[in-house]
Amino acid sequence: MSKGLNRFAILVACATFFLIIAGALVTSHDAGLATSDWPLSNGQFFPKMVGNLFWEHGHRIVATTVGVLTIVLMIYVLRVEKRSWVRKLGVFALLAVFAQGLLGGLTVKLMLPLAVSAAHATLAQLFFCTTVSLAVFTSRNWIEARSLTEEISTDKAGFPLRYLCTAALVTIFLQLIIGATLRHSATWDHPLPTDLVLTHIGGALAVTIMLGIAATTTLRRHKGQTFLTRPATIALILLVVQLFLGLAAYMTRLASPNDPQPLNPMISITVAHVACGALVFATMIVLTLRTYKVLPGAVNDEALDLAGGRSGVVGT
Ligand code: HEM
Ligand code: HEM
Repeated sequence: MSKGLNRFAILVACATFFLIIAGALVTSHDAGLATSDWPLSNGQFFPKMVGNLFWEHGHRIVATTVGVLTIVLMIYVLRVEKRSWVRKLGVFALLAVFAQGLLGGLTVKLMLPLAVSAAHATLAQLFFCTTVSLAVFTSRNWIEARSLTEEISTDKAGFPLRYLCTAALVTIFLQLIIGATLRHSATWDHPLPTDLVLTHIGGALAVTIMLGIAATTTLRRHKGQTFLTRPATIALILLVVQLFLGLAAYMTRLASPNDPQPLNPMISITVAHVACGALVFATMIVLTLRTYKVLPGAVNDEALDLAGGRSGVVGT
């Protein structure tokens, strides 16, 4: 295990989270077309960062930095990592950031069409998911974690936790796509389309149920196993914060068409909602990957016979 690689993977994941905030600031300021030029900005490498160009060009600078960090991460992974699937994930990260940069340029060139802007927002979440996964796979507690048996009461046949977590993860991802479509369907001076708002509220309900079941089942079956209970607890807290931010985003968006330009608190609340959405997704990725690492795929008779018994886990 390489401590340096793990630290660097964590750095890239944190930088990507910062980049998601920088991108969301472009959208919320309605600054996507501050320049219709790409890859240069108004024909320059370093234009004067005035007005909305501060957000748009600032986002490009942060994206370029993350792109360079991803190249270094891939080289680092290829040099020190033995597991071939982790090496492949390192290469995939570079391809994803490259595609994301192209989508960013394309959305500018095509004047922010809904499909391209929503795809850019969605691929951002997938790229973040890749960097978080690399940080998880290179961590000490992942490499040293040992198998657990599911602690299930004999009176109720339980569903394997890894599948509950996977279902919650897929539901969250679909909700991120609906959220991106909703967000890019109307600039601040237009009301949001009602059908999409209702679909997104339905999605929020589905996420609450699926994440709620996955996280509370984790807490019930694996008391004291912080390797699993910590991400489950954080996911539940983030879900509550996200629901409040969603409600606040909706209320401030209701008022925004009357504003002369995008104003606070609409900007900060919608950006916080995008950022917290990414954190909910990332936390569930950590929990889901960990369940695959330490739990069996099927709750069989043996696991039921062992109900109440648990083998230890090293990771925290
Ligand atoms: C390479 C990594 C990149 C990542 C991870 C990334 C991420 C993001 C994110 C998360 C958003 C906000 C989406 C939302 O709020 O719904 C965004 C918006 C945006 N990004 Fe990027 N971006 C990247 C590169 C680029 C590049 C190279 C450009 C080049 C022009 C670009 C142009 C834009 C534009 C114009 C928007 C606003 C779109 C709109 O308002 O419809 N991005 N980006
Ligand atoms: C689990 C719950 C939720 C998740 C994971 C979630 C996620 C998201 C994401 C990621 C976006 C932006 C996507 C992007 O552009 O990249 C978004 C947009 C939005 N969400 Fe949610 N959301 C949730 C619940 C809610 C709730 C309960 C509401 C309340 C009505 C809501 C209202 C909105 C609104 C109004 C937008 C557009 C914001 C804007 O115009 O800038 N969300 N959501």
